[in-house]
Amino acid sequence: MSLIPEDVITRVVERTDIVALIGTYTPLKRAGRNFKGLCPFHNEKTPSFTVTPDKQIFHCFGCGAGGNVVSFVMKQERLEFPEAVRFLAEKAGIEIPVGGRDGMPEDSIRDKIFAANAAAVAYFHHNLLAGRGQAFDAARDYLKGRDLHLEAVKRFQLGYAPDAWDGLIKHLRTNGFEAGIIEKSGLVVQRDDHKGCYDRFRGRVIFPIFDYRGRPVAFGARALRQEDKAKYINSPETPVYTKGRHLYGFNWSKEAAGREDRVIIVEGYLDFIRPFLAGVEHVAASQGTALTPDQIRLIRRYTHNVTMLFDMDKAGQSAALRSLDILLEEEMDVKVAALADGEDPDSFIRAYGADDFRRRVAGAKSLFDFKLEYLVSAFGMDKPEGRGAVCREMLTTIEKVKNEIVKNGYLRELASRLNVSEDVVLRERQNILKKQPGAPVRPQEEAVESALVAEFSSDEEWLLRFVMADVQWLQKARTQISPEELSGKAARQVLATAYRLLDEGRDAGPASLAVAFEDEALRRRLTALSCAGAEILDPATASRAFADSIKAIRDRARKARRQELRGVIRRAEQTDDQEALRRAQEEFNQLLKG
Ligand code: CTP
Ligand code: MN
Repeated sequence: MSLIPEDVITRVVERTDIVALIGTYTPLKRAGRNFKGLCPFHNEKTPSFTVTPDKQIFHCFGCGAGGNVVSFVMKQERLEFPEAVRFLAEKAGIEIPVGGRDGMPEDSIRDKIFAANAAAVAYFHHNLLAGRGQAFDAARDYLKGRDLHLEAVKRFQLGYAPDAWDGLIKHLRTNGFEAGIIEKSGLVVQRDDHKGCYDRFRGRVIFPIFDYRGRPVAFGARALRQEDKAKYINSPETPVYTKGRHLYGFNWSKEAAGREDRVIIVEGYLDFIRPFLAGVEHVAASQGTALTPDQIRLIRRYTHNVTMLFDMDKAGQSAALRSLDILLEEEMDVKVAALADGEDPDSFIRAYGADDFRRRVAGAKSLFDFKLEYLVSAFGMDKPEGRGAVCREMLTTIEKVKNEIVKNGYLRELASRLNVSEDVVLRERQNILKKQPGAPVRPQEEAVESALVAEFSSDEEWLLRFVMADVQWLQKARTQISPEELSGKAARQVLATAYRLLDEGRDAGPASLAVAFEDEALRRRLTALSCAGAEILDPATASRAFADSIKAIRDRARKARRQELRGVIRRAEQTDDQEALRRAQEEFNQLLKG
């Protein structure tokens, strides 16, 4: 791990305008000393997301997310801490000294893999455009045969991997890439005897996969001939590529998705390319699997509306179906579009044209109708058993809908479609819920959070609010109360950390404090506290509230200590330990005096 110097981090945080930064992800409106907007981390209709520029922090009163600019970027861009700092440093034009004596820093490995991938993209691309010989002609003919011409090849950086064992390896070596990096990139495969590597992709058309920021993360490689064993071969997971995290094409389509406030999710590379070229640009490809929560979170930065458009075959429809529940859990609005039987978006547009395609997309069904129809055709509605199965399956999906009104509407509609009274559906729902006891949403998180909340007695909470509101309060607290006097473990930890930062002459403001803790729930709690702030109080009231909270905490601490001492005194009397008795009584009296 490369360590970024503390002062550089501080500079990056200071130089970043939190309102401007967050404003590029979600529109913010001024509200007094704060800014408000719709939370980028959960789906909401009324703004509960607050940015407090004075303190350089954000907090969402809806989902509890909160922190400073670094935590925002970590969450939003899904980066680790050092990456997030680099991300901001780049924006702020601050150079981060590269270092690390003990081995290569993690980030720099990733950077080097990106560079190797970029070199591979260029290599494959060049081979497709300019390679000479029969094999290269065959690759170009293949693409032409699929109606992919120069424009598409250039736009999507398509390539061709020559049918050789070491073409790419040699190319990367000559361009100065170290063996270790080439191996880590997944572009090559280790030989069984471990005596070297060979090119992973050979004699195939290459689809480079970029992350949404446009960095090359992986490759998909298609066979030219039907008789080839695997139609597609893909990169393995690498330090820059995790399966199910990316959406093919989203780097080119994310703006359109934002503009149209919708994204059409398709399965394959060509299913992205074809509509995009035809002018339907708000598309992205899941690469042949059901959507993952990571992919959905990526989409959600741009839109909450998804139209699923999977292949009209068994595999496609079942992947679409599986995606639906995940989309609902992630609070997205979902529709499902259908094409002619057996078609995928690529084949459909080539057969019927883009206008027909647009009509199909516009005519997408609600999730409810889609699933119901699917179930009806699978189970039938003639017999009660069939209706029972349809009802059960529908109920598990409906249960995932978060909005109670929408949920209620669905339940009513289900009853009407099944031709039974609503009561029957509701009773069946109860039966199902009983069978899967206690699966509340994110139980762990809630448990942790409530444990921490319970630990902040309200006096301690008030004290922390002050401490986090202003360094002057913190300094005052430093002279008046020690962490040990607090009863809550979390509160004690927070205060101790604040004092330590203060003593070390470092920034002890809420933004720094909030990131000083590993515990996510605690961080959230802290930013919530500091957003609630103490500024609602006029100065005189604030002073009194501050003094009161300290007094209350101290009183409680003393009371607890007195209780303890009673025990000590009793035991000392029993054992006739005069010395211990004297000390305990003395302390007891001291405490009473105040
Ligand atoms: N896929 C994959 N590996 C496979 C099969 C499929 O990664 N062995 C992914 C690819 O991203 C592919 C998508 O799943 O584009 C959809 O699969 P499929 O419908 O089988 O392929 P098509 O995209 O229709 O492929 P083509 O049009 O080239 O025949
Ligand atoms: Mn397909």
